[in-house]
Amino acid sequence: MVNAERFIKEAIDEIANETGDHRVVIALSGGVDSSVCAALASRAIGDRLIAIYVDTGLMRKGETDRIAHMFGHLNLHVVHAEEEFISALAGISDPEIKRKVIGERFIRVFEREARKTGALYLLQGTIYPDRIESEGGIKSHHNVGGMPLQMEFEKVIEPIRDLYKDEVREVAGALGLPPEIQHRMPFPGPGLAVRVIGEVTREKIDVVREANWIVEEELVDRYLPWQCFAAVLGLGTGVKGDNRVHGWIIAVRAVNSRDGMTADPVVIPYDVLGTVASRITSEIPSVARVVYDVTPKPPATIEYE
Ligand code: XMP
Repeated sequence: MVNAERFIKEAIDEIANETGDHRVVIALSGGVDSSVCAALASRAIGDRLIAIYVDTGLMRKGETDRIAHMFGHLNLHVVHAEEEFISALAGISDPEIKRKVIGERFIRVFEREARKTGALYLLQGTIYPDRIESEGGIKSHHNVGGMPLQMEFEKVIEPIRDLYKDEVREVAGALGLPPEIQHRMPFPGPGLAVRVIGEVTREKIDVVREANWIVEEELVDRYLPWQCFAAVLGLGTGVKGDNRVHGWIIAVRAVNSRDGMTADPVVIPYDVLGTVASRITSEIPSVARVVYDVTPKPPATIEYE
């Protein structure tokens, strides 16, 4: 475990030294990793830090408004790139290619914003497990193996590259970040795109966003899981009214974990799962079936792609 106070001091010094008097853009998603980086960088370089939040159209319900409200005190640019991401993903169903397309789009958006502000350096909240999983060929995290080889940035700075998630949370506490950031569930950079199997379409994203909202409403406060969410698996049959219909199959996942490298499903009583299933199928008419995933990691991963 890191000594949080010492880590903070060293990270601030390192950011200040590495950036000189340059402007720096930070990729801010509002999760604990990027929020910790933003807090460190803001202490190190003040208003030479430009925070960029990209609405990829793959974000959770209410996320963009939440970020705009929460980080309004920083020099924050909210970029609406929903159309750009959804079009770039059209026709692609291979999970690795989806991640690479998203990673590349992110960088292109950051480059565009950086050009407007004269920033040459990019700061991002890559953590140790992101690097291990990308280097080990397990998958390309959008911010590591998913990054394009050619970039306009002169330097990429990753102040928390050696930390595990629980260490990042400790640093967040020591930095005085609000508990809702410190304990926020991880949300993957590629967003809801890794929670739909196969091609990303607007319809699937709308369905998974709504289902995810219901899962979080029902499970977060009750079980405080490390992570819980919904994913769209595909289409199956169901009966609605007197008709056999083709409807979406939603998987509900809730896991506990220390660092995301391994995970165990949360034991949830049937009546609670029943409420989740009945809310999802009644509030989202195009869903025909809801299943609960009881697989640990390994052999499953936490996300679906
Ligand atoms: P998996 O699905 O590999 O996920 O068991 C482990 C943890 O990492 C998160 N995750 C990601 N985070 N970019 C991220 O920033 C990604 O590409 C990515 N993929 C997975 C996942 O939500 C879980 O917490």
